[in-house]
Amino acid sequence: MKRFLPALVITLFATNVFAAPDLENGKQIAENVCAACHAADGNSPISIYPRLAGQHAAYTAEHVKYIRDGSRAWGDMVITMVPNVEGMSDQEIEDVSAYYALQVSLTGEADADPEKLKAGQDIYRGGILAQKVPACMACHGPNGAGIPAASVAKDGVLAYPRISGQHKDYVVAQMQAFRDGSRQHGMMSTIGNRMTDQQIDDVANYIQGLH
Ligand code: HEC
Ligand code: HEC
Repeated sequence: MKRFLPALVITLFATNVFAAPDLENGKQIAENVCAACHAADGNSPISIYPRLAGQHAAYTAEHVKYIRDGSRAWGDMVITMVPNVEGMSDQEIEDVSAYYALQVSLTGEADADPEKLKAGQDIYRGGILAQKVPACMACHGPNGAGIPAASVAKDGVLAYPRISGQHKDYVVAQMQAFRDGSRQHGMMSTIGNRMTDQQIDDVANYIQGLH
């Protein structure tokens, strides 16, 4: 934010030209703006604030822009983020997203009940055949790290997000939002629609402990 002027100069002189993210500026934005909720290293300890550490920059940037512009309005608490980002330029958002992508994602802890873990792991690795739910692993990777943008941009997806270690409550809320239509996405809405509450709870528990 302090570097409003350089960002403006870049916008004026380099419209449509890719400007490399400024990691130092990204760090300052993370510490001054985002840390209050998501933690400076992106490993938010509070389940209403999603973890951002290690997330692919393209995914983070896209969603911050959705929140800034008001098109991401699902989730009871997201409104609290809007005043923090509504003055940010695209370049500042790309800077902070690049910074968070480089932070190390710490593992959360799953409920260790062996039956519950196994139920979640089966869905994550093998999907639910009878309900035509594909394996989460196919797109989010065996350890939940997702797939970065460049390798998949062809199919129109900017990035398959990292979900490992994400707060269980947040994952459950997203799956419910995909299911009830408040969050819309071609692939994930179909998947959410085919899952029961119990199955969502099991796989979200597994994801929270995944690394
Ligand atoms: C006042 C608290 C607050 C601040 C400050 C804040 N956020 Fe958020 N953020 C939230 C909440 C709440 C959500 C939405 C959770 C939900 O949808 O249930 C969210 C969601 C997000 C998401 C979506 C995550 C995902 O996995 O889809 C991203 C990305 C994000 N924030 C990035 C940022 C960045 C970058 C900053 C700093 C520039 C920031 N936030 C500042 C509260 C905050
Ligand atoms: C065919 C590919 C594909 C499969 C299979 C898939 N996902 Fe996704 N998932 C995506 C994409 C792409 C996104 C990003 C959506 C967006 O950009 O808003 C996503 C987003 C998500 C999110 C939101 C992440 C966030 O930070 O808000 C969650 C949670 C999620 N998926 C869970 C799952 C689970 C659980 C399964 C298995 C039952 C699964 N996904 C299977 C492609 C897939």
